[in-house]
Amino acid sequence: MTRRIAIRGDLLDFTGEPALADVAGGDARFRPDHWLLAEDGRIVGVQPEAPGEDWERHDHAGRLVLPGFVDTHVHSGQLDVIGAWGSALLDWLERHTFPAELRMADPAHAAMVSAMFLDALLATGTTAASVFPTVHPVSVDALFEAAEARGMRVIAGKVLMDRHAPEALRDDVVNAEAQSRELIERWHGRGRCAYAVTPRFAPTSTDAQLAMAGRLLASRPGLYMQTHVAENRDEVRWVHELWPDARSYLEVYARHGLLGERSILAHGIWLDEEDRAALHAAGAHVAHCPSSNLFLGSGLFDWAAAEAAGVAVSLGCDVGGGTGLSMLRTMADAYKVQAMAGRRITAWKCLHAATLGAARALRLEGEIGSFALGTLADVAVWDWAVGPVATRRHAVAHDLHDRLFAWMTMADERNLAATFVAGHCRYART
Ligand code: GUN
Ligand code: ZN
Repeated sequence: MTRRIAIRGDLLDFTGEPALADVAGGDARFRPDHWLLAEDGRIVGVQPEAPGEDWERHDHAGRLVLPGFVDTHVHSGQLDVIGAWGSALLDWLERHTFPAELRMADPAHAAMVSAMFLDALLATGTTAASVFPTVHPVSVDALFEAAEARGMRVIAGKVLMDRHAPEALRDDVVNAEAQSRELIERWHGRGRCAYAVTPRFAPTSTDAQLAMAGRLLASRPGLYMQTHVAENRDEVRWVHELWPDARSYLEVYARHGLLGERSILAHGIWLDEEDRAALHAAGAHVAHCPSSNLFLGSGLFDWAAAEAAGVAVSLGCDVGGGTGLSMLRTMADAYKVQAMAGRRITAWKCLHAATLGAARALRLEGEIGSFALGTLADVAVWDWAVGPVATRRHAVAHDLHDRLFAWMTMADERNLAATFVAGHCRYART
């Protein structure tokens, strides 16, 4: 029997990409007080009238209904280091992050953490993510098993590290390739899981391992590549010491065939014009992680330069460098990072980057990121305002962008009423 569900509320999604500062938001599609209809998890219609009795109705009249957020850069094994005091990137990795990641070797710990991690994403309105587990294959199995149990779109892969990391977090080229191939066989294209070849960042891989990663990436269609690039100035200096012949940090990845249209480069703060042109030519994109960049003091990402170069920008919370899993906080921080450079980006731009923009950058717009017919019903239902101050602010909002921007700035998990994944309610506020 066909499973029919209908969700009522103020529907907002995108049909195209808004410019950074275009408050008019021509590509936003706002359909207040409409019903979103899904059959067997897929969106089949949007209409103002209530559907018939044979539809399971979720009446959220007066609430904001958005596509589930897509977080393109986050670490499942780093919940234990959120808010670790006192470090910039390289010291933070040594002191806090590597010790936490060591614990993911234990299957019971990996299973517990993966379940908690995905439930926490759902409880903040995120329904799809590109995730770094750890170097341990069991951390990948645990994450994909938890994703499958929840029906979530998850992209992930075993982290590759064969140097400059503690012994117990290092692999080697032969074992890393064998483990990766096994995981690809098991998970890539199974349900909503996709595999990402995941060299942590250039300094923790030898050339031989990066070359292997490039071969892996080319070995099957649809594979992703995720890594970090040009996040921190000491890191960039280190890459220049390790590869004195490389024109840039990014070029180290390019020379090993790691830049393609499914490549996700986290951070990209210290890229130059030539790098941006290379990303554009490859169809690769940047996962901007403002909360992490502020917390670790990494720098201020130049979104306008990326946009001018035609490089797509999505958003990642980058926990544990980021201070929480919320894409709302990530969007609010993205605004503040641009404000530090004298630019003002719109709520449209932020919301687009967290939904359709990410979906397009991941080549998944046929599945996620909007309310387009035929896509899966990954949906989050939000209260516009919680508490007297936000309620007052919304009462005086002078237009939709003002209202939405105030929502983005002031809302948090308390505003989330329900999260649906492929038409199944996976989180409901109690
Ligand atoms: N660069 C290499 N590894 C990491 C990591 O775990 N987090 C962040 N933010 N940057 C990195
Ligand atoms: Zn990261």
